[in-house]
Amino acid sequence: MPTPAIILDCDPGHDDAIAIVAAARYTNLLGITSVSGNAPIESTTYNALVMKDLLGLSVPVHKGAVRPLVAPPQYAAYVHGESGLDGADLPAPTSTIDSDDAVGFIIDTCRTTEGVWLVPTGPLTNIALALRLAPDLRDRIAGISLMGGGTFGNRTSAAEFNIWVDPEAADVVFNYGGPLIMAGLNLTHQFRATQPRIDRVRALTGQLASVLGDLMQFFMNMYVSRHNNMDGGAVHDPCSVLCLSHPELFTIRPSHVAVELTGTHTRGMTVVDQRDLKEVLDPNCDVLWTIQDEPAFDLLIDAIAHFSH
Ligand code: RIB
Ligand code: CA
Repeated sequence: MPTPAIILDCDPGHDDAIAIVAAARYTNLLGITSVSGNAPIESTTYNALVMKDLLGLSVPVHKGAVRPLVAPPQYAAYVHGESGLDGADLPAPTSTIDSDDAVGFIIDTCRTTEGVWLVPTGPLTNIALALRLAPDLRDRIAGISLMGGGTFGNRTSAAEFNIWVDPEAADVVFNYGGPLIMAGLNLTHQFRATQPRIDRVRALTGQLASVLGDLMQFFMNMYVSRHNNMDGGAVHDPCSVLCLSHPELFTIRPSHVAVELTGTHTRGMTVVDQRDLKEVLDPNCDVLWTIQDEPAFDLLIDAIAHFSH
């Protein structure tokens, strides 16, 4: 499979930070765009710059949406800390943003470079705005591979955080009509940073490995403390990258997925049609169903080692 050309739209965020490493190693990373989500936009943008410099990348970083399309901004300090990347001694970045127009960067890049994958791992605000301003993107991009949604929730019993923060944006994305891959919680919870796996990261040399080891430890400790039966931190966001670079590690179920916008108890839910009926709704999304988590984590270790010097 050719190396996918991608734009990573993210809200670093511990697992977004790991997705940046995977994207830098296994894709043609055309740009990083930031979005408000795990933390306010200033923090997620700063954290993206931290990762850019830790990896020694020359990739452009463009600042994106300050808030969702309709809903008020919501953050996840209870998961990622106030900074969005608590738990490690992060080196201050020397890089600065290339623009504060992430949406314009996404549109311009997809119009000048054919076959780009958009890989959003935070709320879908930037992607929805780009699709609204440039409907021609549907026929220009290779597709959208997103982390979000699933067959159960985390921010509420029904809704996953990325979708819950900006359901209107998610509705635009799930109805855009082009190729769409969803790495939902039903998939990402199969892929966990457990203590033995974190110890493998810590065994690597270099500042990046040390920082990522600390970030993964913070993330794992938070997950284990908040859940009844979790042995590690669900490494959500890299799944949306690895399914493009290493599709052989995943299985999919083409399904119809709709976003609930008005439910009192279900706003932000991705309603996945799992009925075994001939009348089932036409699929609009490849729902990732299983991951071979051991070789997938080996890929993360290899990527960290690659950038650790
Ligand atoms: O629900 C998990 C998702 O929300 C991940 O992308 C995490 O980084 C947060 O953005
Ligand atoms: Ca994220």
